[in-house]
Amino acid sequence: MTQKRFAHCQRTSAMAVKLAEQNGGDVLRAKIGGLVHDYAKQIPDADFIQAIHDHHLPDDLLHYGNAIWHGIVGVYFIEDELGLHDPAILQAVQEHTTGSPEMPLLAQIIYMADFIEPGRSFPGVEKARAITAKNLQAGVLFQLSHELTYLVEKQEPIYPLTFTSYNAWVKRISQTTQAKKAE
Ligand SMILES: [Fe+2]
Ligand SMILES: [Fe+2]
Repeated sequence: MTQKRFAHCQRTSAMAVKLAEQNGGDVLRAKIGGLVHDYAKQIPDADFIQAIHDHHLPDDLLHYGNAIWHGIVGVYFIEDELGLHDPAILQAVQEHTTGSPEMPLLAQIIYMADFIEPGRSFPGVEKARAITAKNLQAGVLFQLSHELTYLVEKQEPIYPLTFTSYNAWVKRISQTTQAKKAE
């Protein structure tokens, strides 16, 4: 990968360690997950298409591109080329492009670390950092909302799992808020 992307992976790794420490997560897995999360980002489309067929993944994936593939399909390259088979790390990498309804703690950490690492400068990043510092799960919902808004504004297709994740996290966060109010 390019030096620029590798630097992003290093910053994501450091941020993941921080988030793991703050949220009682697995620090070593966070460190490794951050480092490998974009491993497949620069793999050519033709290789992804081949991997989708080889691993009998859903055909609808073929309608999307690298932005979705490097997470969901990228894990197969990480397993084959790096020999990394840790299920929790692979799940976190797999879910870092779309989120998922369940997203275990490590997946939340990698998802947020990727979004708010110090090299990020998109409009709204400060808000994302502030929310995540207070509440990791609220950060996840913020990123999912941000992602959907961004894609709609650019009139780009949205992978259905991103919608499903968003709906699940809206419910999850509103339940947490209601539970807190009831206390
Ligand atoms: Fe990525
Ligand atoms: Fe990334």
